[in-house]
Amino acid sequence: MQEAIMNRPNGAACQPYDPRVSNFPRQLWWVAAHSAQITADSLVSRKLLGVDVLLSRRADGTVWAIEDRCVHRGLPLSMGWKQGDEVVCRYHGFRYDTEGKVTCIPTQNACPKTARVDSFPVVENPPFVWIWMGDPAAADPAQAPDFAWLRDPGWVWASRHMNVRSNYMLLKENVLDLTHFPFAHKSTFGALDDYESAAEFSYEDGVVTFVKRFMDQPLSPIYDRDLNLGGRHVDRIDMGKSISPAEHFFTATIRDPMREEPYLFRFQHLTTPQTNSSHHYWWVISRNYGLDPHPGEWFEQIASTAFREDKEILEAIQLRLNESPDPTRMPEVSAIADRGGLLARRQLRHFLEREQASAT
Ligand code: FES
Ligand SMILES: [Fe+2]
Repeated sequence: MQEAIMNRPNGAACQPYDPRVSNFPRQLWWVAAHSAQITADSLVSRKLLGVDVLLSRRADGTVWAIEDRCVHRGLPLSMGWKQGDEVVCRYHGFRYDTEGKVTCIPTQNACPKTARVDSFPVVENPPFVWIWMGDPAAADPAQAPDFAWLRDPGWVWASRHMNVRSNYMLLKENVLDLTHFPFAHKSTFGALDDYESAAEFSYEDGVVTFVKRFMDQPLSPIYDRDLNLGGRHVDRIDMGKSISPAEHFFTATIRDPMREEPYLFRFQHLTTPQTNSSHHYWWVISRNYGLDPHPGEWFEQIASTAFREDKEILEAIQLRLNESPDPTRMPEVSAIADRGGLLARRQLRHFLEREQASAT
C-alpha cells in the first residue's frame, strides 16, 4: 500500500483499504489456531493470508502445516484422512508427508519431484499456534510471540476465535480507539464509559502505543467486579500497544494503596487476514485476580457479546468498501481520537516497506 492511495490529490484523506489490493506482510508470525483446535486426528483447514492451509499434529505432538490443495486435481486435502503422520487425498489417494511432499501415488511406483505443495513453518506457544507464510529461510521461531502468563496458574483467562468479514486493519483501528465504547458497546463495555476523551498516543520502533490514566478514582464496574473495592479510590493506567499487524496487547494496571502488587487486566486482539476483506480474530481476556470463580462466566460472556458488536460494525463498513467502485476515493474525516488508528496505518506501511526492501 503506497502513500498515494492514502490521499486524494487535494490532500483530503481517503479510505486506505482497497479490497482489490492485499495489505498484509508475509514475513511475520501470525496466529493460525488455538492449540486445542489442532489434534493428531483432525485435519483443520484455514484460509490464512489468502492461502488455504491444512493444519494437523504428528504423533509426537508437534504441529505441521501445508497447503490444503492436492497437487493432482486440486481437492482440499482436509477432505481426506490421516495415515500415521501423513495425509491421504480422498479423490485418488495421493499421500503427503508433513513437508507437503507426495510420498505415494497408488497407481505407480515413483512420484515426480514436482509432486509437492508448500509447507509452512509453525511454532506452538500454547495456547496459540503461530505460522510463518513468508520466505521459510527468514523464519525465526524465537520471534513467535509467547504469552507465558497464560500458562501461569496465578492468572485466569478466556479466549475465542471469530471470523470477521472485514479487512483486518479495521479491527486494528477499532482496538486503538476506545472512544467507541459508550456507543458500540452501550450494553456491554458501555459500563466502562471512561473513554470520553482521546488517549495519549505515540509511535516508536514500529510500535503504536496509547496510554490513558485514571488517577485516584473508583474503579469502573467491569474491573471492580470480582475485586469489590467498594468504591475505594485507586489509580488505573491503561496501556494499549499495536505490536505488529498481527498483535495488539492491552493492559489495565490497577494500583490499590492497600496492596503492594498491582492488579492486572489484559485484552489481546490477534488478527490474521483470510482475504483482503475478511480475517480471523482471536481475542484473549486475562487477569491476575478474581481467580475463583473461573472467568468462564460473566467475564467471557461480556467479551463475547462486545466483540460481536464490533464484528457487526466492521462488517457493515467493509460491505460499503466492497460495493464502492473505488474505495480509495471515499473521503474520511479523522478525529483526534483516531491518532492511534492512523499510526497503525503507518505501522503497516513500515512492515510492508521493510518486507519489500528485504525482497530486493
Ligand atoms: S485430486 Fe487428490 S489424488 Fe486426485
Ligand atoms: Fe469494541
